[in-house]
Amino acid sequence: MIVVREFRDLCKRIVDTVCSVYVGDSTIVKKMLAACLSNGNVLFEDYPGLGKTLLAKVFAKAIGAEYNRIQFTPDLLPADITGTKVYRAGKFELVKGPIFTHVLLADEINRSPPKTQSALLEAMEEKQVTIEGETHVLELPFFVIATQNPVEQEGTYPLPEAQLDRFMLRLCPGYPESVEEEMEILNRRIEWRKDDPTEDVEPCVSIEEFRKMQEFVESSIYVSKSILKYIAELVRATRKHDFVEVGSSPRGGLALLKVTRALAAMDGRDYVIPDDVKAVAVDALAHRIILKVEKAVEGIRPEVVVEDVLKEVEVPKGDEKSRSVLS
Ligand SMILES: Nc1ncnc2c1ncn2[C@@H]1O[C@H](COP(=O)(O)OP(=O)(O)O)[C@@H](O)[C@H]1O
Ligand SMILES: [Mg+2]
Repeated sequence: MIVVREFRDLCKRIVDTVCSVYVGDSTIVKKMLAACLSNGNVLFEDYPGLGKTLLAKVFAKAIGAEYNRIQFTPDLLPADITGTKVYRAGKFELVKGPIFTHVLLADEINRSPPKTQSALLEAMEEKQVTIEGETHVLELPFFVIATQNPVEQEGTYPLPEAQLDRFMLRLCPGYPESVEEEMEILNRRIEWRKDDPTEDVEPCVSIEEFRKMQEFVESSIYVSKSILKYIAELVRATRKHDFVEVGSSPRGGLALLKVTRALAAMDGRDYVIPDDVKAVAVDALAHRIILKVEKAVEGIRPEVVVEDVLKEVEVPKGDEKSRSVLS
């Protein structure tokens, strides 16, 4: 069993390793780690060339996970992901697809049609795969880190709502913030003398340690009644907002709950505070919200809705530290 301090140090090591390659705000790395600590799937969405693939690859390496990468293309088939049965020497044998791994990097996921994208649905939610009627349970940890270009880009198939809802967080790396950051990317390239800096990244925890970290988040972080109410009210407020056709699902609330526990632990606390919830509310909820057509046409983004509900819903003060229920 690990303790809070040890957990925090391991997290710091993972974040530092990722940031030794990725230039930018470490917040996005912490959020990615928080989601993966609860086997949550992460979607990186942004314009090409902003380090999405880089982030996914370096992260998978840093946590010592076995990982496979699938480049999604228009002609990719579901069986290319899950696997298939082949007839060999008088019987059918299972040839496992790349989904049988710990971390699946689904690169440019919206370049494949929905039928192929949906081959991931069962694995993302239920951590199992059905191939020709036979169900295979995946070894944990298992999660998908997907990247995609913004939906307006040409040659893309927007992810259907059901698929989007399976992502615990949607994160957007964004452009480098300053000329210094932009120069740092160039500088590192000169130092590395190679285009793929992830080649040299060594795991900073073992996969067993990572599993223990996941267990720790699951079993040792206290969430008070008032935090639960706060999350529930935020989720419900997204459904009532004037701009919204369809608000966040209950799965959105569960995502918030799980990520906030990991964030609290990463901060060295064994209880969740309202700031943990505020920190990831947009990342956990915005992609689950469908705006009214007229609002979407005006160019309004669902992030605005989450920012509004964060202002509206009363922030709890008080009982979050109560430890009476801590197991
Ligand atoms: N923030 C960043 N830090 C370090 N390298 C970056 C960053 N953004 C982009 N790069 C570099 O730019 C190139 C493109 O990045 P990549 O991850 O393939 O982009 P994307 O998947 O978003 O299209 C890679 O060589 C990557 O190393
Ligand atoms: Mg890429």
